[in-house]
Amino acid sequence: MIGPYTILNEISEEEIRHRVKEIARSIRGEYQHREPVLIGVLNGVFLFFADLVREISIPVQIDFVRVASYGTKEVSSGEITFTKDIELSIAGKSVIIVEDIVDTGLTLSYLVGHIKKKNPESVKVCALINKLERREKEVQIDYCGFEVRRGFLVGYGLDYNEKFRYLPHIVSLQIGEQCKESRHDN
Ligand code: IMP
Ligand code: MG
Repeated sequence: MIGPYTILNEISEEEIRHRVKEIARSIRGEYQHREPVLIGVLNGVFLFFADLVREISIPVQIDFVRVASYGTKEVSSGEITFTKDIELSIAGKSVIIVEDIVDTGLTLSYLVGHIKKKNPESVKVCALINKLERREKEVQIDYCGFEVRRGFLVGYGLDYNEKFRYLPHIVSLQIGEQCKESRHDN
């Protein structure tokens, strides 16, 4: 027990590095001559995105969106506010949306719809973690790092109430009742 948090499980730096390389290899194979636009969903994706882009090692363009969803406890409500949109023109381009975690699927399904309105040639989704327990909206994840059934994950960019983003590995936390918050950041 660390204060009000209990660490349940862990995905090590080594496992993350290995999986990022595998995902990057698949993307490289498929997008060899297409210079895809990778759109990262801030803030949680920042470490995964930086590692992925370097491992892909073919020319890509990058851009970011920032969204916030609000809800109760650790569950997002699906009410999504855009605080930063992309700045590149993506019409006719091959786009890959890069997310940290897909949980309810509400953020991603909203984002895919938003990006498709800008007339890209194609849109695919890459997510570091696919969390299966609370899916409400079916979303296709084309490149997935890890599937996790349940739990609240932090580290490697992922936060709980802005804590733990700096950890180089991922841990699953059991959060004490007294510590639950209503703000749900990306
Ligand atoms: P959604 O429920 O699929 O809309 O997920 C919205 C966002 O909540 C994700 O992009 C993450 O930033 C965040 N999120 C969901 N589950 C977790 C978690 O276990 N740890 C940290 N952030 C999470
Ligand atoms: Mg978050």
